[in-house]
Amino acid sequence: MTLDILTDLNPSPRLLLGPGPSAVHPRVLRAMSTPLLGYMDPEFLKLMDETVALLRHTFQTANTLTLPVSGTGMAGMETVLANLLAPGEKLLVCSAGYFANRQEEVARRHGIEVVRVDKPWGRPFSAAEFEAAVQQHRPKVAALVHAETSTGAVQPLEGFGDIAHRHGALLLIDTVTSLGGVPLKIDEWGVDAAYSGTQKCLGCPPGLAPVTISDRARAAIQARPTPPDAWYFDLELLYKYWGPDRAYHHTVSGTLVYALREGLRLVAEEGLENRWTRHAANADYFCQGLAELDLTPYIEPAHRLPSLITVRVPNGVDEAAVRAKLRDIYNLEIGAGIGSLKGQVWRVGLMGYSSRRENLTLLLGALREILK
Ligand SMILES: Cc1ncc(COP(=O)(O)O)c(C=O)c1O
Repeated sequence: MTLDILTDLNPSPRLLLGPGPSAVHPRVLRAMSTPLLGYMDPEFLKLMDETVALLRHTFQTANTLTLPVSGTGMAGMETVLANLLAPGEKLLVCSAGYFANRQEEVARRHGIEVVRVDKPWGRPFSAAEFEAAVQQHRPKVAALVHAETSTGAVQPLEGFGDIAHRHGALLLIDTVTSLGGVPLKIDEWGVDAAYSGTQKCLGCPPGLAPVTISDRARAAIQARPTPPDAWYFDLELLYKYWGPDRAYHHTVSGTLVYALREGLRLVAEEGLENRWTRHAANADYFCQGLAELDLTPYIEPAHRLPSLITVRVPNGVDEAAVRAKLRDIYNLEIGAGIGSLKGQVWRVGLMGYSSRRENLTLLLGALREILK
């Protein structure tokens, strides 16, 4: 064994201002260094219950079937799709960005019939457009992305649950980049299924995927002729562990549950509304600073996502070189554009513990130096 692989772990202290992961709150890091409990220890079961109660609060829901799935945001996506839809059943994907297309890709792997309606990237669906698509295609489930991390646009969802229900469909949404940072009201908006991740606005490391399912959607799952084709992501089996039965399903990461509980406690302490306001105020502050540098956000203010700002790369600027300088000189991470926005934008995450004014002042100052 060569000595260089025996050196101490010493990662650079990067300031994470990309599309995720975001900075982990110091209290979350502390929680993660506390001793493990067994996954059936009564003390641990109590921590699980507290985590679920806090998750319900953060999702603004009373849904019984609310739990964190082991895995990242993609595990959440795969879980809700594979549970809500049996092979051959119809999913409508309303796409205006990269992560909606992921919903289609995952669903197809499960033999689900997918109809996709497209809008130009970054242009959210209006209620009328959504209703027209649901009416035309009559899906079992209609899916949207609340916060499109590829474009930096937020999808308004007020009233969308009623529209879906009027046409016999369930409403499914991706909340990976909104949960805990952007107004999100699962019950008020009539959302039937939502999944998220922990490494964005919750200020935790990646590794758990919070999921919440309405009673209406749960009844649809229970009425399936066959169980979901993904055993590990079978929500009814998972609920047998997270719910009152406490039946072994898999060995959940206690460390990640500690982290999520602490991250959600921080949300509740700050207050959801205050947290949404902080994210919005910091996004405004950052966009004002961009204007002073003659930089322009890709998304107009009405649809701009406070947790992720896409910034147009000025003509003649080597976008990768700017990111490399931010990383190597300033220890700052921002993201590149993906999909059809590759090379055209930078993606700046203002999420959770990363969404602090001092971080943005530093990033704006560094950009000023690099671009001058
Ligand atoms: C909107 C959205 N959905 C899904 C995902 C997938 O999450 P993960 O990378 O945690 O698996 C991401 C990740 O960035 C995302 O931004």
